[in-house]
Amino acid sequence: MEKYKNYNIKNVGDVVTLKGWISKVRNLGGLVFIDLRNRTGIIQVIVKPENEYYEIANSLKSEYVIEVTGKIVERESKNEKLDTGEIEVETIELKLINKSKEIPFAITNDTTALEDTRLKYRYLDLRRENLKNNFIIRNAVTYSTRKFLNDLDFLEIETPILCKSTPEGARDYLVPSRVNKGKFFALPQSPQIFKQLLMVSGFERYFQIAKCFRDEDLRADRQPEFTQIDVECSFVNEDEIMNLGENLVATIFKEVKNVDIKLPLMRMKYDEAIAKYGSDKPDLRFGMEINDITHIFKDTNFTIFKNVIEEKGIINAIVVKNVADRYSRKDLDKLTDFVKTYKAQGLAYIKYNEEVTGSIVKVLSNEEINNIKEELNLENNDLVLIISGKYNVVKTSLGALRCKLANDLNLLKKGEYKLLWVVDFPSFEWSEEENRYMACHHPFTSPKDEDVDKLLTDKANCYSKAYDIVINGYEAGGGSIRIHDEKVQEIMFKALELSSDDINEKFGFFVDALKYGCPPHGGFALGLDRLCMLLSETDNIRDVIAFPKTASATDLMSECPSNVDEKQLIELGLQLKK
Ligand code: AMO
Repeated sequence: MEKYKNYNIKNVGDVVTLKGWISKVRNLGGLVFIDLRNRTGIIQVIVKPENEYYEIANSLKSEYVIEVTGKIVERESKNEKLDTGEIEVETIELKLINKSKEIPFAITNDTTALEDTRLKYRYLDLRRENLKNNFIIRNAVTYSTRKFLNDLDFLEIETPILCKSTPEGARDYLVPSRVNKGKFFALPQSPQIFKQLLMVSGFERYFQIAKCFRDEDLRADRQPEFTQIDVECSFVNEDEIMNLGENLVATIFKEVKNVDIKLPLMRMKYDEAIAKYGSDKPDLRFGMEINDITHIFKDTNFTIFKNVIEEKGIINAIVVKNVADRYSRKDLDKLTDFVKTYKAQGLAYIKYNEEVTGSIVKVLSNEEINNIKEELNLENNDLVLIISGKYNVVKTSLGALRCKLANDLNLLKKGEYKLLWVVDFPSFEWSEEENRYMACHHPFTSPKDEDVDKLLTDKANCYSKAYDIVINGYEAGGGSIRIHDEKVQEIMFKALELSSDDINEKFGFFVDALKYGCPPHGGFALGLDRLCMLLSETDNIRDVIAFPKTASATDLMSECPSNVDEKQLIELGLQLKK
């Protein structure tokens, strides 16, 4: 492959042969100008009227594939925007290798084609430079990962794609078995169980760039089929694993983007992340922390706040600096609608100008208004947004609001990265649906040593040796130390109300394996796609996956999922319900 972008003024006089696609062709005053493109860039080719291939040149169209042999010459009018902008190739010989149908959209970085059209013709979309560059980044990430982990004696080991359903928490993609009719494989949600088994096998340091499948509701940072950098090691503690994980991530940032990440990363307890940022993946690129101002209203006459306090709820606020004059009543109504989607009852606001105004100013006492000002260090033109209600609702809705405001107010700088570990996750979370405590991660996540005794008696206050690495508000990865002690595992199953029949049926083989000299072990998995999103500075995960699915989990290019022949169903012993 010729590296077009390596050709420059120093190559003037060289004769080169280039193969590629025609990005643009035009005839200006008799001269044919061709922008020839391959994976490495664009180079200008010219064909003069006296050239024996002139007629072919004049018939060329966009996306035709050609081969040109020509001499590199200095350009008269240079193009500073192009790596090869100082030179052009004067054609000696020209061969048309293949024609192209008229393309459905222009192959340009700033295309206005709808994403659905681009996904249908993904192979053309991938010719666009900015999209193509994301895959160069992705390749650099996996290369850097493999090198980093190999140098530390990690072995890359593949694990099955057809497997038994794992207790990861999302819905499984199922594959019917033809040989064992009525039975199903599940596609792995992650290689979790296998990597733990590899520790039992004594591999000690494993990694894999692993495909994972989860049938869950999709979002801008989720795909049903995604890739993890999956890591597991034996004889390690939380600090050692986090140290390994952050060094890997910092190496990737340095090697792929030349960005220096200062280590060690900050570690924030889960409870603090929720209290201050309303999220277990706080975006630390901007302030706007959540402040608890409940105590200011302990003797309030304002009925709404009074009732909230009586019902053991909280009153929290965020301060948006120097924007009070920019937010109209209508803008604030829109913010209220936004927080209502997070189940908040409403959004109160106070504008601190020379004159204090706002939705609740009339119902608060002067003392309360002054206390808020003092407590939140308010300055002229600050806007205070307040939500009251149940702890989780208040935190989540203010957490989402601060991110929305940061976006709206353009507080997020391109190329800036803020990383941290969120640690000490709760072991359990209450499920309203199931009316019981469920595992926050998976049932093999080790509780904190000091909490083992509380697993059966005080679930709300049990914390685990689990950690997530968060980058710019995205959960870029997560992991934990696993339980290797049979007795602790038994208590955990009991705490999760799993009967021995449940355990045997779901993962009996695994529990059994842990009884054969299981080493203490732990690991993590980085979301490769999310990491590439961050490095490519896109907020759409599809931009870093060559052939992604739409938000409704379909592939518009190959049109799948699709119907199958009746014969295939019969072979599998399946019948579709009408
Ligand atoms: P977890 O479920 O947190 O942990 O997944 C690890 C990381 O994978 C990424 N991720 C996703 N990326 C794109 N689309 C999805 N649908 C998706 N789901 C998850 C995230 C996430 O942080 N087995 C454990 C890891 C361990 O304990 O070692 C696991 O899978 O970036």
